[in-house]
Amino acid sequence: MSTPKQPPPENLSFLDQTLRPLTWGEYIGQQHIKQNLHILLKAASERKHPPEHLLFYGPPGLGKTTLAHLIAKETGVQMKTTSGPAIEKVGDLASILTNLSSGDILFIDEIHRLNKTIEEVLYPAMESGVLDIIIGKGPSARTIQLELPAFTLIAATTRIALLSSPLRSRFSGGTFRLDFYSEEDIAKIIARSSSLLGVDTEQSAIEEISKRSRFTPRTANYLLKRCRDFAQVNKTALSLDSVRKALSLLEIDELGLTATDRKILDIIVGIFHGGPVGLNTIATALQEDEATIEEVNEPYLMQIGLLERTRQGRVATNKAYEHLGYDLPSERQEKLL
Ligand SMILES: Nc1ncnc2c1ncn2[C@@H]1O[C@H](COP(=O)(O)OP(=O)(O)OP(=O)(O)O)[C@@H](O)[C@H]1O
Ligand SMILES: [Mg+2]
Repeated sequence: MSTPKQPPPENLSFLDQTLRPLTWGEYIGQQHIKQNLHILLKAASERKHPPEHLLFYGPPGLGKTTLAHLIAKETGVQMKTTSGPAIEKVGDLASILTNLSSGDILFIDEIHRLNKTIEEVLYPAMESGVLDIIIGKGPSARTIQLELPAFTLIAATTRIALLSSPLRSRFSGGTFRLDFYSEEDIAKIIARSSSLLGVDTEQSAIEEISKRSRFTPRTANYLLKRCRDFAQVNKTALSLDSVRKALSLLEIDELGLTATDRKILDIIVGIFHGGPVGLNTIATALQEDEATIEEVNEPYLMQIGLLERTRQGRVATNKAYEHLGYDLPSERQEKLL
């Protein structure tokens, strides 16, 4: 008698990869970016020339890396991946560039972390396809120019403001800002991920996860997986009820705020009377990194109208007072904050 086949064990480290869209059709939302890219890629392919350099920016988890992969797939070329902090020396960049083949895509993630000397080597490479190398030191130093194969640079950053303007201006193909997703689009992503994970998720459960996903695909997939774990361990269905329990265990509230988001607001409201308060003060009080607060927490808090950035510092809105359950101080009652 043959034994029933066991489903293959799930390899957790591949999960994010498994859920990553592999075709344009699976890449939900960001319509205007997709339309622009289609035209750019088609025009480049008709001219039989690699597409011009592209820059994607926006908060983490919105699909920048996924777009770069889709472009490589669409154009059928090789993509080499590196990141700003990985390129420490000019020599590192020189070796990456000289190892490219004609038509390749070079993807540089976190490009805002490239140092200035390296940026200066990148400019002529992006603009005229040459690499200037200085040989020797002092008066006998001379520059030689190496011709590079035609390539496309795709860069991603969560912090566009940290990019120097000469670097920004060299992305001749375009600079695209990824927007937060609508709740409906996030629900579509969760439904697709559920079927890829082989779990049966009730529509009301999908909607509940979607509401708390910070309009971000990566968060949606993460919450779906945690809710799936909860349902599996408790031997229940992925229903509205089990999702609510799982999310409350994760301390994700009904607006999708994490414990850290609430602490940030709590510091501004509870200690600093609603602000304005400087980012460094918040970071110190929270014992958290300033960049993380600025890149991860604040964009969403501002998106849903709980926080404002002013020249004097961060200010909590009246909606933040309400959400945290604080009474509005009298001076705020007539202000439309
Ligand atoms: N438009 C989309 N449709 C469906 N799934 C998406 C979409 N965008 C992103 N995802 C999912 O979200 C995950 C995170 O996306 P990705 O890694 O591309 O984000 P990112 O913008 O590069 O983030 P980071 O700034 O942290 O590098 C992907 O693995 C994919 O599963
Ligand atoms: Mg990425």
